Amino acid sequence: MKIYRAWIYVVLSILLFSRTGNVHGVTQRSKVNNGEKFGRAPLLERFAWQKLDFSYPDERSRQLAIASGEFVPENALPVGIEIWRNKVFVTIPRWRDGIPATLNYISLDTNQSGSPRLTPYPNWIQNKAGVCGRGLTTVYRIHADVCDRLWVLDTGTVGLGDTTVQVCPYTLNVFDLTTDKILRQYRLRPQDINQNTFIANIAVDLGRDGCDDAFAYMSDELGYGLIVYSWQQNTSWRITHSYFMPDPLAGDYNVGGLNFQWGEEGIFGMSLSPISQDGYRTLFFHPLSSHREFAVSTRILRDEQLSQNSYREFQVLASRGPLSHCTASVMDENGLQFFNLIDQNAVGCWNSALPYSSANHAVVARHDDAMIFPADIKVNRGMLWIMSDRMPIFLLSTLNYTDVNFRILTTSVQEAVAGTVCDNTPWRFGGNQIW
Ligand SMILES: *[C@@H]1O[C@H](CO)[C@@H](O)[C@H](O)[C@H]1NC(C)=O
Ligand SMILES: *[C@@H]1O[C@H](CO)[C@@H](O)[C@H](O)[C@H]1NC(C)=O
Ligand SMILES: *[C@@H]1O[C@H](CO)[C@@H](O)[C@H](O)[C@H]1NC(C)=O
Repeated sequence: MKIYRAWIYVVLSILLFSRTGNVHGVTQRSKVNNGEKFGRAPLLERFAWQKLDFSYPDERSRQLAIASGEFVPENALPVGIEIWRNKVFVTIPRWRDGIPATLNYISLDTNQSGSPRLTPYPNWIQNKAGVCGRGLTTVYRIHADVCDRLWVLDTGTVGLGDTTVQVCPYTLNVFDLTTDKILRQYRLRPQDINQNTFIANIAVDLGRDGCDDAFAYMSDELGYGLIVYSWQQNTSWRITHSYFMPDPLAGDYNVGGLNFQWGEEGIFGMSLSPISQDGYRTLFFHPLSSHREFAVSTRILRDEQLSQNSYREFQVLASRGPLSHCTASVMDENGLQFFNLIDQNAVGCWNSALPYSSANHAVVARHDDAMIFPADIKVNRGMLWIMSDRMPIFLLSTLNYTDVNFRILTTSVQEAVAGTVCDNTPWRFGGNQIW
């Protein structure tokens, strides 16, 4: 295992104050600007791969799969992760041929480090492409909830960009992680999508009333919509808003030495606040081609009628500033948000007790080799999990397969924010996780 340290930033923090204990109200806010802009926690490289590989039952079947083109190691790019108990899930879209399974996991019981082979979840059969209703075709970001359910949106697509073929309909699959059985399968309605639809992210909102009080929010990055699924009603609806669209001035990117334009990328990253006094969470979201964050209460999203007619309920937050394109984001039970900063090979933080402004943001992890294109991020039991995959190089150039391309990194949340602007309020919920 490798440990990276962001010592470079120590220099920058010399100017800044060290933290004092608990502070309240106004004093706390005035302290904010004195916090450090860079965290100094060690970043642990948990897993690293040059190429991905799969745990075939034996070497002969693996070789046969390679010979037949069923498995093409160079074509597998991981895009999403999730952590649940002793499993680390890894998703791989079927952008190119030869992806034997789109939803996979690593068992932490047998593989704590290194370059473990991936095991299809729940099995090989249910990872067959194009077997609509019985197999997963392409899965991007996934979410495990506190009710031990894994929420998996299958886009049903094979290929990428202009070559994309919709072989199955968009289908939400919810697995019971304790039995590995599908609890719920729901096909998005034709009205939920349009001809540009591309949904690569899902957020799951559990209300005060337990596991049945659940909603999923799916961000339509290229069709510019938000699709809401109600677990209780077993139905869905689509919301549109101009805040789901990209900023036309924010479509230029420089990542991993490449310059490219992704001008069409709309609503993508989403994170949900803890439940507030009124019984609802806040959904924070951002288009990928944008430097802004937006917010809306789940009170609006959860009500189909209300959601269709609430333009002004959506809030605009301040800009993160330059070089702040962001893929995935996550908020923990303390209201601490983490977001991937793809232009900076970094992860940022924001403490939602403070106003959303770049002055109240810090970088908690950065590495110019190990963190090229942080594609997904999760918080699990006080640990921050980051997956980086060099995606633009894979898409626009060629990965160097003698180099490490894909990594899963971890750092402790408390250590990562220690001394930064994100760490200036008492932990609001302590260890007591409420839905
Ligand atoms: C992962 O675990 C499996 C099962 O115990 C083992 O056979 C394999 O060698 C491990 N792989 C790595 C890279 O440690
Ligand atoms: C939910 O709706 C889908 C399709 O609309 C249907 O196939 C499925 O059986 C329903 N599930 C439940 C639990 O009602
Ligand atoms: C590929 O990566 C290896 C290992 O880091 C390095 O030694 C080699 O120079 C790289 N090749 C190219 C063409 O960049």
